[in-house]
Amino acid sequence: MSVKISPSILSADFAKLGEEVRLVDEAGADYIHIDVMDGHYVPNITIGPDVVKALRPHSDKVFDVHLMISPCDPYLESFANAGADIITIHPEAGPHYHRSLQSIKVMGKKAGIALNPATPLSVLDNIMDLVDLILIMTVNPGFGGQAFIPLMDKISQARQMIEATGRDIDLQVDGGVNPETAPKVIGAGANVLVAGSATFKGGPDKYASNIKAIRG
Ligand code: DX5
Ligand code: ZN
Repeated sequence: MSVKISPSILSADFAKLGEEVRLVDEAGADYIHIDVMDGHYVPNITIGPDVVKALRPHSDKVFDVHLMISPCDPYLESFANAGADIITIHPEAGPHYHRSLQSIKVMGKKAGIALNPATPLSVLDNIMDLVDLILIMTVNPGFGGQAFIPLMDKISQARQMIEATGRDIDLQVDGGVNPETAPKVIGAGANVLVAGSATFKGGPDKYASNIKAIRG
């Protein structure tokens, strides 16, 4: 299985975000991971749909938009119109996450579901037919640069659930992914690795070698 790298621009230089997106695109990123935080669902505030829209002309890569906002429903259309390709939500972020996933699909976008470290895999039970991406969080959401939580069994079980569907569903891991932890999550069955601090550390001259080192 080929591994995709999705650099999280949370660790980029926010004063020149467009250029940073272009640089990681050229450095070999497969997706661009955009962390949206509201200071309510998570204790941090980042970027909104207008920023996603402004970034869109800077790359043709898949915009992988991770919504850590509650409620998420009122904003799904804005992110879809801004140019998101994948919209990932957390099941705790609204009362009816099946409906949220349906809305994303109706807008013609890929739908993702994100599981916090303490969120059980059982949240996937009745939505597998709706999702294009399952995100296993290996840190608690809110900040880049946190220590990796080794949830290998959870990742493997999610991979088994995906295989049972026979569908092409991305298994993404987000949080503390670096050249040391990446082989473990790939071994457990992940095929999309989000990496913020490990991509951007050392500055633009290092982006290509950092991405290569994470890919393994
Ligand atoms: C955390 C975000 C992550 C974060 C990852 O809430 O969802 O995408 O940016 O950062 P690193 O790779 O530094 O752990
Ligand atoms: Zn993320």
